[in-house]
Amino acid sequence: ERVILTESHTLPAQSASQNIITQHGDGTKMPRHVAIIMDGNGRWAKSRGLPRKLGHAKGVEAARNSVQYAKFNKIEFLTLFAFSSENWRRPQDEVQELMGLLRHFIAKDLHELHKQNVRVKIIGARDSHIAPDLAKMFDDAEAETKDNTALTLCIAFNYGARDELRRAMLKLHEKMLLGQIAPENLLEHDISNALDTAGIPDPDLIIRTSGEQRISNFLLWQAAYSEFVYLDIHWPEFNAASFSQALEQYAGRSRRFGGRE
Ligand code: FPP
Repeated sequence: ERVILTESHTLPAQSASQNIITQHGDGTKMPRHVAIIMDGNGRWAKSRGLPRKLGHAKGVEAARNSVQYAKFNKIEFLTLFAFSSENWRRPQDEVQELMGLLRHFIAKDLHELHKQNVRVKIIGARDSHIAPDLAKMFDDAEAETKDNTALTLCIAFNYGARDELRRAMLKLHEKMLLGQIAPENLLEHDISNALDTAGIPDPDLIIRTSGEQRISNFLLWQAAYSEFVYLDIHWPEFNAASFSQALEQYAGRSRRFGGRE
């Protein structure tokens, strides 16, 4: 069964609700969890002779629109890669610009997201590099929205998958020392639960814009069976039509999870 996308890039209500209860392993359906590598803000700006920071500002608008699209189409989880643990290597003024945009986003949009029943979760290292007031903003945003039941918006910030795995290993080591897990009984499930994404299903679909075809240290453990869609547009150009196009590609894929059809 294929998902037919209508002209307005929305799904018929019935098919959308059928898909929400559909679990993994069923082939051509709506994804429960979409994760996006928002790439190409800089190139978008450069190609227009604009400063990079305008590219990032446009990128925030595209991020905001993608949240509305996901919510409207009843996607349950949307993860956005906003700032990687490697992005600190960028020039200080660009790092500051990105920090400022994220602060502004949380300060300005949180209230509206909460009203829309969106749950906000931030993944990534919380205890290194991050200013204490920003860490508090993250904690408060999560606490305020924790009981919301529509879309879960997961923002990856100061996030790197290898660092996440490193931190998970330390947590598991601690549990082993405390006798809560016996090493010989360690399950894959225990590892999933020690990651920042504990409780969030693995992404069904990972979208990357800007034509680059790599994972760049994003959700390495969780992406084991994700479908990848690469779009040839820069992130500031990403809109409902692009989201819809990615979902159509996903719907045409056959997922076997290592088994056979
Ligand atoms: C990639 O463009 C984008 C980023 C490194 C940052 C993405 C951040 C935002 C869109 C803003 C904050 C997000 C939220 C959720 C409010 P690039 O600079 O790597 O572009 P380039 O590869 O063309 O130089």
